Amino acid sequence: MFKRILVIPGDGIGTEVTYWGQKVIQTIGEIFGHQFSFDTALLGHAAIKAEGTPLPEETLVKAKQAQAILFGAIGHPMYDNNPSATVRPEQGLLGLRKALGLYCNIRPIFLFEELIGASSLKPEVVRGADILFFRELTGDVYFGQPRGRSQDGQTAFDTMSYSRYEVERIAHKAFQAARERRKKVHSVDKANVLESSRLWRETVTQVAQHYPDVELHHMFVDTAAMALIKNPRQFDVVLTGNLFGDILTDEASQIAGSMGMLASASIGEGTGFYEPIHGSAPDIAGKGIANPIASILSAALLLEYAFELTVEARTVRRAVALTLQQGWRTSDIADASTPQEYILSTDAIGSKIVQNLARVAQVANA
Ligand code: IPM
Ligand code: MG
Repeated sequence: MFKRILVIPGDGIGTEVTYWGQKVIQTIGEIFGHQFSFDTALLGHAAIKAEGTPLPEETLVKAKQAQAILFGAIGHPMYDNNPSATVRPEQGLLGLRKALGLYCNIRPIFLFEELIGASSLKPEVVRGADILFFRELTGDVYFGQPRGRSQDGQTAFDTMSYSRYEVERIAHKAFQAARERRKKVHSVDKANVLESSRLWRETVTQVAQHYPDVELHHMFVDTAAMALIKNPRQFDVVLTGNLFGDILTDEASQIAGSMGMLASASIGEGTGFYEPIHGSAPDIAGKGIANPIASILSAALLLEYAFELTVEARTVRRAVALTLQQGWRTSDIADASTPQEYILSTDAIGSKIVQNLARVAQVANA
């Protein structure tokens, strides 16, 4: 039986890095004797160019039929400074998340010991940091209605809204995950100001009663932004709404050294979606220097969550760790001490990791 994966490279560096995420899955298949089948689809700017819409019907159909989706990145600079563009790449991603009911975005933040010098924070602050973000993904100001502009065009508005049900289902996921970890949840809100945050806090407090073994802390989002940098080790599981989670996970990526290191899993009702947290990085797209590790670690999450292949996922993470131990870097994770000849292109570091998969798997089986 084939395990059916849909690959959506998307825009910018998405195509360059997703190649390596896919390659890693294929290689894992060869090593462990699994058969994966791959199909591809368009999303975002790539889809607008080809089909005139950021989320073509064909992509949606394929997404629903697949067992897992490996996604790259979305976005193009031609829209960023053009507020009047009504068709935008991001609509493709948001539309697909919504259509598949992927309300739970899981973003692990941890620092490979080898990259401690690449973090912009002091080693003694970041060493040992290991945070699991649960970001709500299909509600909040991203989807709230009404949104738009006043008739005279002089006022614009979005609606931040959450229902009890939306908060409950993601909160349960966060508490369940905390049980398997250090048993601590920090729930982030702005309940001192926002009505939707007051409902968020009230609901999370109620859900927590089902998990008496898990410690719950509430934190305002501004405090959380500060505390993440000041003392990231205090966090275990962090539970946030859509907008706060978007912002805080980019911030937290600096704990791990680079956005190029961080993967995410979006799960919920339909086919799970596995993607780097970084964007399309137009400034480096096409140069062959993007870090493929976020895509490769997204592939690991896909193996683990979509197919319950935990040994295989661990093999991928170990191959990444070994490659870093060997000293190989892309430019975003190099530091002053990295010799020039150890700074590799996307393809060169990708092949090192793929080679190391076999080595690591042998050791694991021995
Ligand atoms: C992310 C991205 C997306 C988001 C954009 C591309 C719509 O920043 O996945 O974090 O805001 O959710
Ligand atoms: Mg983001």
